[in-house]
Amino acid sequence: MQPDATQAFPSAMESTIVVASNRGPVSFDRDRSGELISQRGAGGLVTALSGVFFRDDTTWVAAAMTEGDRAVAVEGYEIDPDSHQRVRFVVIPPERYEAYYNQMANRILWFVHHYLWDTARTPTFDEHTEATWQGFVEANRAFALALAEEGDRDPVYLIQDYHLSLVPAMLRELRPDARIVHFTHTPFAGATYLRILPAHMRDAILRGMAGADVVGFQARTWVESFLLSVRDLPGFRVLRGGRFAVGDRIATARAFPVAVSAHSIRETAAKPETKRVRRELKAWKGAARLLLRVDRLEPSKNILRGFLAYELFLRSNPSWQGRVKFLALFSPSREALPEYQAYGDDCLAEVERINKELATEAWQPIEVRIQEDYGYAVGAYGLYDALLVNPVYDGMNLVAMEGPLVNRHGALILSRNAGAYGRLRKHALTVNPFDIRETADAIRDALDMPEEDRKRRGRGLSRTVQAHTPPLWLASQLEALDQVRLPPD
Ligand code: F6P
Repeated sequence: MQPDATQAFPSAMESTIVVASNRGPVSFDRDRSGELISQRGAGGLVTALSGVFFRDDTTWVAAAMTEGDRAVAVEGYEIDPDSHQRVRFVVIPPERYEAYYNQMANRILWFVHHYLWDTARTPTFDEHTEATWQGFVEANRAFALALAEEGDRDPVYLIQDYHLSLVPAMLRELRPDARIVHFTHTPFAGATYLRILPAHMRDAILRGMAGADVVGFQARTWVESFLLSVRDLPGFRVLRGGRFAVGDRIATARAFPVAVSAHSIRETAAKPETKRVRRELKAWKGAARLLLRVDRLEPSKNILRGFLAYELFLRSNPSWQGRVKFLALFSPSREALPEYQAYGDDCLAEVERINKELATEAWQPIEVRIQEDYGYAVGAYGLYDALLVNPVYDGMNLVAMEGPLVNRHGALILSRNAGAYGRLRKHALTVNPFDIRETADAIRDALDMPEEDRKRRGRGLSRTVQAHTPPLWLASQLEALDQVRLPPD
């Protein structure tokens, strides 16, 4: 039902906010003396959202991941020392958490939304998948219950990502008038690919997300995928302009591409440790040109084809051998999962082979560093001549936006399947990520590009990124929420 027009909700812009995500903005651990100490949560979602909440009336609800988080959960809330938000943890028993996060979210939903299966062989669903699904349902329910308890101040709920795709509908049952935005940071699978999922799971995920008033995505193309899928669901009608009706309730699906905070990345770039990294890398690079990539070590990032494209570039352009170095910075990701382990091993084996076949005494073509070190990556951003961002599919890709904020002289090679393509394509060299010939040519073109052209593009990228800010990203979602809740004229 449409909300009662006479009911006086404040505008979403003036409301308190409750965020929900699997990984929180901070995680707590105990130091030697038993005191709780906090550490910033890793990953793109936290980076994207951390610039958003300058208000101290926000509550962030996340899954407890450490013993420290569980201790906080017993107490109720903790205040994030940086943002001053309240953080509340949902405790999910370990076995259920394994089913919800590692099995369902990381091995099934991540794979479907990034088109990662080799469909002649994988996936196969069986009774084990059903047990996994039950864990996912229960974990989503635990979130919905925690969020409902936060409902007394009529907040706006901002529910993040595929982990929590069932929460909007569950929360709506508990709090029928709740104002809910669900935002997906990943791509959203096309309608036929989504049908790989067991039918009841696909339906529950679509209905779950559609429980929100606003269903947000990083790019128009993922909005279209979502709408194509809900079009078929009994009880749904897709209207014009991204709106859809669920029974007699109207909701909307829209693109809200995330923004990165220029201020906070420049603050990191100005730190003495970052400057030291930059000096070290400059000395290591010497007179060579620098090709850089910065990624989590995982299959959607298309790391393997990136190395093959670089090899092809070197073999087709032998004059570049000895004059360019490829620095690949990876942060470890979901290491317990066999698919990720195997992919990481394949990537490193390929690096070893390429280095063995092409290195000389004075030159090694590829240098890989695997470490969780954001400052190090920012130090490296300052130095690249070309930044390679070639994901198979990616919701947005923050690296493509962070690099140009620090570096205005380097070129960006960007996959046409990254959400960032929509925003940055004008100033980037764009590639089909599956085509290593095209990617090899783009590496050549980036490195051969006259300096003036590269700088012009670099400035264009930087200006485009800065035109969008995290507070504007939040405001556009809140405005969409106010609009969709307005009664029809
Ligand atoms: O965009 C999807 C996302 O959830 C981001 O928050 C983050 O970059 C990434 O996946 C990391 O995931 P995890 O929390 O599983 O390490």
